[in-house]
Amino acid sequence: MTFKKDFWWGGATAANQIEGAWDVDGRGLAVSDVALGKDQSVNYQKQVQFTSDDVNAALADQTDQLRPKRRGIDFYHRYPEDIKLLGELGVNAFRMSIAWSRIFPNGDEDEPNESGIKFYQEVINSLKEQGIEPIVTLSHYEMPLNLSVNGQGWVSRKVIDYFVKFAKICFESFPEVKYWITFNEIDSIMRHPFTSGGIIPDRSENLNQDIFQALHHQFVASSLVTKLAHELIPDSQVGCMLTKITTYPSTCRPEDVLAAFNKNTMNYFCADVQAKGEYPKLILNYFAKENIKLVMEPDDLQILAANTVDFISLSYYMSLVAAADETGLEMTSGNTVEGGKNPYLETSQWGWAIDPVGIRISLLELYDRYQLPLFIVENGLGAQDQLEKDQTIHDPYRISYLSKHIQEVGKAVDQGVEVMGYLIWGIIDLVSASTSQMSKRYGVIYVDEDDQGHGTFDRYRKDSFAWYQKVIRSNGNDL
Ligand code: BG6
Repeated sequence: MTFKKDFWWGGATAANQIEGAWDVDGRGLAVSDVALGKDQSVNYQKQVQFTSDDVNAALADQTDQLRPKRRGIDFYHRYPEDIKLLGELGVNAFRMSIAWSRIFPNGDEDEPNESGIKFYQEVINSLKEQGIEPIVTLSHYEMPLNLSVNGQGWVSRKVIDYFVKFAKICFESFPEVKYWITFNEIDSIMRHPFTSGGIIPDRSENLNQDIFQALHHQFVASSLVTKLAHELIPDSQVGCMLTKITTYPSTCRPEDVLAAFNKNTMNYFCADVQAKGEYPKLILNYFAKENIKLVMEPDDLQILAANTVDFISLSYYMSLVAAADETGLEMTSGNTVEGGKNPYLETSQWGWAIDPVGIRISLLELYDRYQLPLFIVENGLGAQDQLEKDQTIHDPYRISYLSKHIQEVGKAVDQGVEVMGYLIWGIIDLVSASTSQMSKRYGVIYVDEDDQGHGTFDRYRKDSFAWYQKVIRSNGNDL
């Protein structure tokens, strides 16, 4: 298997799922602080949808008891220990995000919060000391709650300026960071407008219109920030980030193939804009049909065209199935989506299809479409783990999932796909994005914390820790 010499082997996280310390050192409230802990019996739609009532209840709640993302895994205080463990694991890359509300608590201040900058400077320095390259996401499922409550988040054009200002502070403060991702899963605003765009749906008169307007603002912001990164950090590379949800037709009936094509077209749409620099014609046609009218400034399209991304990053967890007529199709959940269940595939404890070949298909299709380097910045298995009395954790299911996926990545590489690296999602157990559960664990490092926040918060190495260590040492040969 031929992973290149400087392949990035690592792990990925997001600030709102690890840091905790939600009210410490001047951090402002973020949209992620609204999410309540849920369990997996909650329908996926309800897991990721929020209302004005949810927001008001969160504003009135001064504790972290019901809202696990406020607790995270206390990375804010424990990062030195965590980064040491990552050093021992041998990763050469670590994906993290910067909480916007730690730098600009309300999003619209003139001056940044120095304590926030200091915290990230220390984290980045600690990573560098361990020889670990920081891969930094500017926006991962959070924005200052103030911008949401007082302006419907990204629907407001003003947010572009606030975001560019935030990014500029980050580039000036952390010039040693060479790899930047602008928006995590930018397409996800179509599935969860509050988490990804600060849009409170029941305050919107035309939700679909607002979602695409907000997305347009994110595209423009992403392009402006890409330009800025290249100017301020000359050897930097900036990527977009796509939730890669590959959809297969449920049968070879042409109508089912068409249904799958339409889903995949929608899935590619954001990467099309960010990699090719223009809205695809099929999407413009969809807008016209749905009566979606984007408000643009005169040079928006030129900004998009002039500032395309250097690489495409993606998350990949599962695939889905589509049919022209979904009545009778057994449904299952996936990464904040629902779709047809594939009878040929097993599913995780959360119902997500386990499809290693799907990652290879996804990489081949993406590379064929864009001819840009691809960076797998999230892949992994959410599963319940058992901490044994002797403080070991045996997770052969995770090793099997990861091993099979890496093998397929290797095959894609052998077929000519340019892959920059592979990062395990939630390399250290963290709070789930959709359900806010701790019991949905992704890490090779275990965190002793339960869904209610009980536990010592101590860290333990799972069996997958030693396994991944070996994979990294062998540059992906010993799987
Ligand atoms: C991705 C997100 O969509 O999926 C992560 O970028 C998230 O933030 C991951 O944690 C897994 O989803 P979940 O809901 O199982 O945490």
